[in-house]
Amino acid sequence: SVVLLWLFILLLFFFIRVRRPKNFPPGPRPLPILGNLLQLDPVNPLKDLEGLKRRYGNVFSLYIGSRPAVVLNGLEVVREALVTRAAEYAGRPTHMMVSHLFKGKGIVMANYGSSWRDHRRFALTTLRNFGLGKRSMEERILEEVSHICTELESSAGGSMDPQHLFHLAASNIICSLIFGERFEYDDPVILTLIQRLEEFTKEAIGPWAMLYEIIPVLRPLPLPFRNVFHKFDKMKEHIKKVVTKHKHSRIAGEPRDLLDCYLDQIDKTADGGSTFNDAQMVSLLLDLFIAGTDTTSNTLRSAMLYLMTNQHVQDRCHREITEVLEGRADASFEDRHAMPYVQATIHEAQRMSDTVPLSVFHTTCSNTQINSYQLPQGTMVIPNLSSVLHEEGQWKFPHEFNPENFLNEVGEFVKPEAFLPFSAGSRVCLGEGLARMELFLVLVTLLRRYRFVWPEDGGVPDFSLIFGGTQSPKPYRLGVRLRSSEELPTVSTREI
Ligand code: HEM
Repeated sequence: SVVLLWLFILLLFFFIRVRRPKNFPPGPRPLPILGNLLQLDPVNPLKDLEGLKRRYGNVFSLYIGSRPAVVLNGLEVVREALVTRAAEYAGRPTHMMVSHLFKGKGIVMANYGSSWRDHRRFALTTLRNFGLGKRSMEERILEEVSHICTELESSAGGSMDPQHLFHLAASNIICSLIFGERFEYDDPVILTLIQRLEEFTKEAIGPWAMLYEIIPVLRPLPLPFRNVFHKFDKMKEHIKKVVTKHKHSRIAGEPRDLLDCYLDQIDKTADGGSTFNDAQMVSLLLDLFIAGTDTTSNTLRSAMLYLMTNQHVQDRCHREITEVLEGRADASFEDRHAMPYVQATIHEAQRMSDTVPLSVFHTTCSNTQINSYQLPQGTMVIPNLSSVLHEEGQWKFPHEFNPENFLNEVGEFVKPEAFLPFSAGSRVCLGEGLARMELFLVLVTLLRRYRFVWPEDGGVPDFSLIFGGTQSPKPYRLGVRLRSSEELPTVSTREI
């Protein structure tokens, strides 16, 4: 039977020709079943995509298995699709493993429709501080920053691997907002959850997930991709336990966090017809936890890598921060308007960190077009954000770290249109405001208090990124030096 199976596959390869729809964007010839997968480096396909862009132009197509996907490159076409034709490009794929895990619930993988819209609006307004109880988003972030400082204090004079710390801190900030609690850095509950999240994010886009997607007949078999479903269920179980605890301890109408706000929302809309319910709530909470953790922490790690290896940039930031904050204990997000160089540095670090290189895949919600090509409804669309963040002609220094990319001739902060790390249009990152506040408050507080140096035994800095749904820098050690006492604020970091 194995021989027969191979014969069958060979026949498919020889006799089936995959044909692109009429007037579809051009691209390399696909193989049956596998499509163009063999033409893409599984470790990092970004270089191959760059090569295809040079050959076929800013809009080209690829087959992922037997499904065509259109890759959009550069600011002009990404903006045309996601902003000008936002409603036509706002769908999400329904055939991928992550789509099956979330079953279209929550926000990230929910298709364009009323449930997605209601939940997106709810999460945005709640996070924008209309319902987080007594403590604002800014206060919760500053609380976490003070814990990061305490942790770094113990490494002052030496070095440490910041991966774990930044990951836990980012996860704590999101946990504080949605569940009303943060965890100690050695708390087994958060350590287990984070470990599951790390494994889940790796496996949900790994080779087994690809096999699951391209050969549907394999799906019921007990192959390693079942682990992903298992890990996902475990994370869900954890969230369900938190929900049960909240239901017992809450006072209706007095929310402590986003979860309480959601429970209030269910009460308000209990008379039927609403998209708010327990299953959606669990998916939304998982969405926010997953989307808000390693995106921010990987960006912070990249930022530190560039700061450590550009002492002049760090010193200029430090001077600006000291001048603006004077003797004040804490920075506030409002201070960003008085710190053009710091703003430019943080944005530049974010550009180079290129954290979500291929965005989250979209699909077309109706027949549409791009340039002169026709895209049928349901076509998968991959916005190549990486190509925009390094696009020649859009940046003064597209391929190197240089805060001048965000400064005009008189040193004012300016944000070029091609700064799209959060994507654009109706599905633009929901956590953009939160992420920007986190990056600013964490980096300003740390740069004020510490000098970060590349450790003498650290070898040669490696700026290449590990590709993934979210990219991350390679592990490195962060040299931590406490700035001299006269440079520090008179009141030490935030008291809790
Ligand atoms: C979606 C980037 C932090 C929640 C996205 C997308 C990108 C992105 C590129 C896809 C947009 C699209 O489909 O076109 C980033 C980056 C972050 C970050 C670079 C940090 C530096 C966060 C945080 C949260 C979050 C902290 C938590 C609140 C979401 C959600 C979506 C999303 C819920 C789905 C939006 C939708 O489908 O309507 N993000 N993100 N993100 N992000 Fe973020």
